[in-house]
Amino acid sequence: MSNRTFTMVKPDATSKGYTGGILDQILNAGFTIKAMKWTRLTEEQAGEFYAVHKERPFYPELVKFMSSGPIVAAILEKDNAVADFRKLIGATNPAQAEEGTIRKKYAASMGENAVHGSDSDENAGIEGDFFFSKLERF
Ligand code: CMP
Repeated sequence: MSNRTFTMVKPDATSKGYTGGILDQILNAGFTIKAMKWTRLTEEQAGEFYAVHKERPFYPELVKFMSSGPIVAAILEKDNAVADFRKLIGATNPAQAEEGTIRKKYAASMGENAVHGSDSDENAGIEGDFFFSKLERF
């Protein structure tokens, strides 16, 4: 069990003004911020971040969407961070997300689903390293 995970507030959520509400819910759930930045991915960077999905039919749409506007990237800390954060955000498809979860409240569709959360401790490390240097984590 690791105590860190990685998240992004996605372009659909930042453009609709949901950033504050989403971050508030994350902090109220007991996560603390270890690194954070407001940034925008190029198509190349989005493609690299989601390279694991390269062969999936939704990959081109995912890359286009994730580079379409600003995001907030963050490393979060809490006991059991990866699993607890995935519970907090809810299912990938917001139609299947539980009541009260971030995706249930803020996500529009499977593709535009408001937030990303790492699916394993290993990926949390890889994804955090993608965005943050050692000097940017506290
Ligand atoms: P995320 O948790 O960021 O990880 C991979 C992303 O791919 C996922 O959220 C969705 O936004 C996206 N995704 C997964 N399945 C589909 C799909 N069937 N159609 C479009 N996008 C998808």
